[in-house]
Amino acid sequence: MSTPRVLRQSLTRLAQHARCYTSTPLRTQQQQPMRLPTAWSTSQTIARRSLSTSSVLKHGHVDPPKPGEELYVTFIDKDSVTHRIAVSAGDNLLDIAQAHDLEMEGACGGSCACSTCHVIVTDQEMYDKIPEPDDDENDMLDLAFGLTETSRLGCQVHMTKELDGLVVRLPSMTRNLQASDFKS
Ligand code: FES
Repeated sequence: MSTPRVLRQSLTRLAQHARCYTSTPLRTQQQQPMRLPTAWSTSQTIARRSLSTSSVLKHGHVDPPKPGEELYVTFIDKDSVTHRIAVSAGDNLLDIAQAHDLEMEGACGGSCACSTCHVIVTDQEMYDKIPEPDDDENDMLDLAFGLTETSRLGCQVHMTKELDGLVVRLPSMTRNLQASDFKS
């Protein structure tokens, strides 16, 4: 008994479909090769990362003051050695200290989230010339080891003409966010 022609054609079509499906790998959406959208191509990702590190690279960097525009700040270190430094207006005490290899950790990179840049202003009159600390600085100062009435966070104190001649002492110890994290 021969197969009717219509049935043969249907079987042929079915066989073609089957070949078609089996020759094309089935891929679910999850199996699709992962492609980064253009906006996140590798080079741009690297470029973005480079941008995000710029603040870190800049950390501790200060430009030398222009002749005739020098302001002076003196740091008294833990060994009572004084370091008188000529600086530019706008520089903060953390950057100045780090640029001159003074021992000031600055664990949070100057974002007012630690107390490792604690300094003690030696002169009440000079202390009063510094703009008042905001709530964030006060919160962090509460964590500072050896807090005094004239304590400030170095990263929050920017040099101005009024502060020319400022003298600050570096505390003998600083306290990080964890009480157990002491540094002498
Ligand atoms: S460096 Fe962390 S508060 Fe100044």
